[in-house]
Amino acid sequence: MEDKILNTELLINKLLEEEEEFHHVNNPAADIKPVIKKYLGVPNHAEQLGNKIYFTDGDAKVEVVVVTDEIIRVRLAPHGVFLEEFSYAVPKLVHKDASFILLENESEFIVSSRVVNCHIRKKDFFISFSDKKNHVTSADAVPMHWEENVKFGGYYVFCTKVCEPEESFFGLGDKPTELNLRGKRLKNWNTDAYSFAWNQDPLYRSIPFYISLNEDIAHGIFFDNTFKAQFDFGAEDKTKTSFWADGGELQYYYIHGPHMMDVVKSYHILTGTHPMPPLWALGYHQCRWSYYPEAKVRKITKGFRENKIPCDGIYLDIDYMDGYRCFTWNRKYFPDPKKMISELAADGFKTVVIIDPGIRVDDNYSVFKEGKKNRYFCRRSDDYFMEGHVWPGRCQFPDFTNPEVRTWWGGLFDELVEMGVAGVWNDMNEPAVFGAGTFPDDVRHQYDGFRGSHRKAHNVYGMQMVRATYEGLRTIMKNKRPFTITRAGYSGVQRFSSVWTGDNVASWEHLQLGNIQCQRLSVSGIPFCGTDIGGFSGEPDGELFTRWIQMGTFSPFMRAHSAGDTKEREPWSFGEPYTAINRKFIELRYRLIPYLYSTFWEHHRYGFPILRPVVMQEQDVLMNHFRQDEFTYGDKILICPVMQPGQTSRKVYLPKGKWYNFWTNEMVDGGQEVTVPTPLETIPIFVKAGSVIPEYPVMQYVGEKEIEEVKLNIYYSDYEANSFLFEDYGETFAYEQDIYLEKKFVVNGDSKKLTIQQSMEGLYTPRYEGYHFTLLGLPFKPGKIVADGKEITDFTTSKEKITEFKFSKNFKNIEIFK
Ligand code: GLC
Repeated sequence: MEDKILNTELLINKLLEEEEEFHHVNNPAADIKPVIKKYLGVPNHAEQLGNKIYFTDGDAKVEVVVVTDEIIRVRLAPHGVFLEEFSYAVPKLVHKDASFILLENESEFIVSSRVVNCHIRKKDFFISFSDKKNHVTSADAVPMHWEENVKFGGYYVFCTKVCEPEESFFGLGDKPTELNLRGKRLKNWNTDAYSFAWNQDPLYRSIPFYISLNEDIAHGIFFDNTFKAQFDFGAEDKTKTSFWADGGELQYYYIHGPHMMDVVKSYHILTGTHPMPPLWALGYHQCRWSYYPEAKVRKITKGFRENKIPCDGIYLDIDYMDGYRCFTWNRKYFPDPKKMISELAADGFKTVVIIDPGIRVDDNYSVFKEGKKNRYFCRRSDDYFMEGHVWPGRCQFPDFTNPEVRTWWGGLFDELVEMGVAGVWNDMNEPAVFGAGTFPDDVRHQYDGFRGSHRKAHNVYGMQMVRATYEGLRTIMKNKRPFTITRAGYSGVQRFSSVWTGDNVASWEHLQLGNIQCQRLSVSGIPFCGTDIGGFSGEPDGELFTRWIQMGTFSPFMRAHSAGDTKEREPWSFGEPYTAINRKFIELRYRLIPYLYSTFWEHHRYGFPILRPVVMQEQDVLMNHFRQDEFTYGDKILICPVMQPGQTSRKVYLPKGKWYNFWTNEMVDGGQEVTVPTPLETIPIFVKAGSVIPEYPVMQYVGEKEIEEVKLNIYYSDYEANSFLFEDYGETFAYEQDIYLEKKFVVNGDSKKLTIQQSMEGLYTPRYEGYHFTLLGLPFKPGKIVADGKEITDFTTSKEKITEFKFSKNFKNIEIFK
């Protein structure tokens, strides 16, 4: 026993001694450096591992990957450890047979693909890119840098590049500001921005992709980082362009042009394109918060048919639900939804219903019960449920970043599809929470196994919601194409949905803003976009509404929508002359559906945007970097909306080449501004010489009648021009098995002759037999027409010099002689 006490004493003494010793040691905390921004040092080493090349300054590491000949990805690991590779935007990092070499000279390492060189300067780790003519397109102004984030872990990450004196910037999604972003600082953080204003930032979507244009060479930067991020295009310092984020990796893709179009196409190689929409979705959609009860819905749809105004989509906003509980029906307002939907469908209307992410906390509500039982709802850091108020009251929110939750969510659409619902509208998915704005930062997300807080998941929440919706619908609808529309999104959202620009205002300023926003979304990889025609809040007068319908006719997505406290807002609500003009434009929308559908195919298959700002047509003209009114719809039709009240004429810039005024068929030389009359009945529309514009007969809805012939409007040109026509079933995924027809037309003419050639690819056979040819702008009166060796005698030429005739849809070569 005594021994034991002795031993204990010894032990205590020993410990005390040790403690003393400890006190003699310098305080380890004194060695910890204060948190400051750190910059890459001097790269002392380059190492190639497979297709990745690593550079290090001894501590930090930089990885360079040649993704394609035009795309190079750069990543930074402040202490040498990269995060596991995962991206919602880039589902698969393609390496399209990208070969490269690693070179070294005295001053730099160079990773060189067949198109781009990535230079890593030995002196200071500056990274720059050049083309094969050694033209530097992008250069660091300071080395990549970071700052430790003590509160959350990880780093704030920064990249700063040189901003050249005449450099212009485009992209970044739905920012409500000038098209050229030069001189702006903008933030990405998805935000419910009711009645947003010019320059308000951020809005609903985060698209961290921009296009730079300098000295006629374009390149893109895609900063694939989902955290709150900012971009500064020479705002703070006009010689610098910076982008940075509150966390995640400093990871960006340099995308080489040299043309803006090349950049957009390559961006789509990374993030994917929009699937082919159901053909009906290219028609006109009518929405309102809300059409209810059933009698009101029927009155509206009947109104379209009685007024002979085409319409395909009819929307049910939140009031169709029982207490705003998603996947339920208010049976008082809609006693038999299946019957209503099927009767609407028989009259050509496709019903689209809204579904929000907030699930009402209610133990008698099956969706809530299932979600709760399976732990599908988001939780706070201390394990409390994330609760917030939205339309239904107190709600919890599915964690759409969890694949199991997405599958569950997708399955919930079973009953709606069974009832005949054709499309789903996902709203409030920034996510929006009344009062608080959105979720607090500490909410946890499964993030497909790469767990994170809401700081990381916020900007992808909406995209993952609409992904769950789209994938669910796709499974349930089998081979039928679903239609989806979302308010929030992140890069890549185009693989799952169309978008609208959110809660705009019935003002002329918002008409201008909407025009810019749709063009910007288009160059940011989101082709299927539109505005709330007429403005969501406030009251448009007849003139504003008509001007908006005219612009909306040329938005890839065309929907009128309005808030609940506004007056009736259908295309006939303003009386004449507005109704007739609205009808004429909506009819024009339907006539041009085969053209729009073909441009959609060009997007889906080749990554072209549907709307193209003038700068994309002619990027070498500096003035075009600042034009934001006119745009082309596909590459053949130039539109310039009228965006001022009482405007009777306006200036329109036409890119070089020859153009036809759509209304008068008069030919005009491009490369100049022209003054065009703009009575309320028209807006400036020009068609490029050499175009073949396919046209369907006007119908009250897509598929109302069998198409007996397709009209081909051929605009004479004295140079060779190509046009395309895409056809398929319009509602299935058979196109993925090559069941489609891609037709190419080549038009060429001189002073005595015009030739039209057609070639085809694909396995689809349309049911109509022939084309109705309409030749416009011929500089001679046709004397003889020969089609595939046979003379056509049955043609007419009007006093307006329009020649018309019919021939087989399978023609190969048609010659029109003086
Ligand atoms: C949001 C949407 C709007 C919708 C309303 C009611 O404000 O942006 O389009 O009508 O909620 O659901």
